[in-house]
Amino acid sequence: MEHRPVGVFDSGLGGLTAVRELMQLLPGEDIIYFGDTARVPYGSRSPETILKFARQDMNFLCSFDLKAVVIACGTVSTTSLATLQDEYDLPVIGVVEPTAAMAARQTRSGRIGLIATQASIRSGAYERALHRLDGSIQVTGAACPLFVPLVENGRFRPGDVVIETVAREYLRPMKDAGVDTLMLGCTHYPLLHDVIAGEMGPEVTLISSGYAAALALKTLLAERDDLSGAAQGDTSYFVSDTVDGFEQAASLFLRCDLKGMAQQINIEKY
Ligand code: DGL
Repeated sequence: MEHRPVGVFDSGLGGLTAVRELMQLLPGEDIIYFGDTARVPYGSRSPETILKFARQDMNFLCSFDLKAVVIACGTVSTTSLATLQDEYDLPVIGVVEPTAAMAARQTRSGRIGLIATQASIRSGAYERALHRLDGSIQVTGAACPLFVPLVENGRFRPGDVVIETVAREYLRPMKDAGVDTLMLGCTHYPLLHDVIAGEMGPEVTLISSGYAAALALKTLLAERDDLSGAAQGDTSYFVSDTVDGFEQAASLFLRCDLKGMAQQINIEKY
């Protein structure tokens, strides 16, 4: 048994999709969450800038005594995972391999869709992970750069005409390719689950990168005999911009009142 907390980070709200799953799958774990809300989005930036930000995010989280870190950010996972795994002396899990493995298990037709940020699509990391599992899988990828800013601004509910119009446009290539499985390769996108499911229809299975990463952490901690023995863990929230918008959106998404729970930190110091 191991009582040290798990660190989770993302560029903003998206990593909460992993936190929500972790709370279900591993209710006894303490979680330290960092959302880099002052510098979101990461997905339109260069690999060098993303790595610089990711190192600062890791340095902040590693100021706590952690047992593992989940990079709950597709963009950091697709561009910087191997470097961070080399540089930090604790288990670091990304979202790419777990998401690809889940999609490869799920597909019946071998036609898998991928939506993610520009940096993730450019990296080709999801395709490589899928093809390591099965070289015959056909992948249709599309970058959806407007999704993250819309989610960060609270526009993620079905019935919102702006997000529904943008989603229809972005998802057209997935429908044209006839995918039966769609990887939500950015952790913000599960917040759009209902909008995306409404557009793709019931025949298409959506794979949440946040869920896949949470499940991978559970497996890792169990293998290492590092699960917490506590009945109920605590979650602490840190952000790099003002807390108000984050607390509001996070309360809505996690279905609990987080008012007064988040702390702002200066990420440039790390
Ligand atoms: N949640 C991040 C990801 O998974 C969002 C990226 C961004 O900030 O653009 O890619």
